[in-house]
Amino acid sequence: MIECPGIQKKTIRAHYDLSTLFYRLMWGPHIHHGLWQANESSRQAQVQLVEHLAKLAEIQKGARIVDVGCGMGGSSRWLASKLKCRVTGVTLSPVQRRWAQVASLFASPGSGLHFVCQDAEQIEFPQTSVDVVWSIECTEHLFEKANFFQRAAGWLKPGGKMAICAWLAGQNETCADTVQHVQRVCEGMFCPSLGTQADYEQWFSQAGLQVVESQLWTDRVMKTWEICKSRVEKSGVRALARMLGKEHVLFLDRFTAILEAYQNRTMEYGCFVGVKAGGNCG
Ligand SMILES: C[S@@+](CC[C@H](N)C(=O)[O-])C[C@H]1O[C@@H](n2cnc3c(N)ncnc32)[C@H](O)[C@@H]1O
Repeated sequence: MIECPGIQKKTIRAHYDLSTLFYRLMWGPHIHHGLWQANESSRQAQVQLVEHLAKLAEIQKGARIVDVGCGMGGSSRWLASKLKCRVTGVTLSPVQRRWAQVASLFASPGSGLHFVCQDAEQIEFPQTSVDVVWSIECTEHLFEKANFFQRAAGWLKPGGKMAICAWLAGQNETCADTVQHVQRVCEGMFCPSLGTQADYEQWFSQAGLQVVESQLWTDRVMKTWEICKSRVEKSGVRALARMLGKEHVLFLDRFTAILEAYQNRTMEYGCFVGVKAGGNCG
């Protein structure tokens, strides 16, 4: 794991409170990478990432799901509308909670979607009450990652699954250049640390979850940053960021660092599915 000291939770919350509107305008209802197969639109690629994770995790119709770090509720709505899942979305940002709640009323009224503004590192759900813990690109922001996996595994029913997509530190995590490069990304993107693929596998195992999928999608997601860089350059968003504060400028400036980190493998993009022993539920 590569750590980036100095990141604060209140900064992560403030970032998402302020930037959610811009994510929506510049990227779409999902705040995560696209997964490309060919030349699909960025919108389509974002949905493909959700579809692919759901397929790998073999999520069953009607499953009870906790969507950890739910953003604007993009995944939660997809799971509710396509698979009739009952989803509780958790976000650190009060703005995102309200956004997700309102968007779900328009998109799938009466769907059983529910959103809460709480810290995933503090929230509790009853033990063995959940079929799936789902999280796309939130664990990067957590401070005690191993501890989160332990707690979240407790929410799962026997046979329940944890499905995670995450930005990763590359394999060469002890190399000084890798550490420096990953720290530049973490600083701009408000991540207190990035785990490696091996770290995630270990956190799953230590939490009593058998890793059934551990895949790297780096080549298929990195186009995200070419598109984002180009959209930032073509729009006036950098001028706006300057007015909002230096951390927002830094965030935009680090898009190039992420793209390069994927290209030289100082970072990877990972997808994991783990299963809790016993039972037979999705
Ligand atoms: C990159 S966004 C991903 C959003 C969503 N999963 C998606 O794919 O559209 C990261 C999300 O993690 C949430 N987050 C970060 N730290 C969190 C924490 N400690 N507890 C709950 N949510 C957190 C942010 O509020 C944001 O919604």
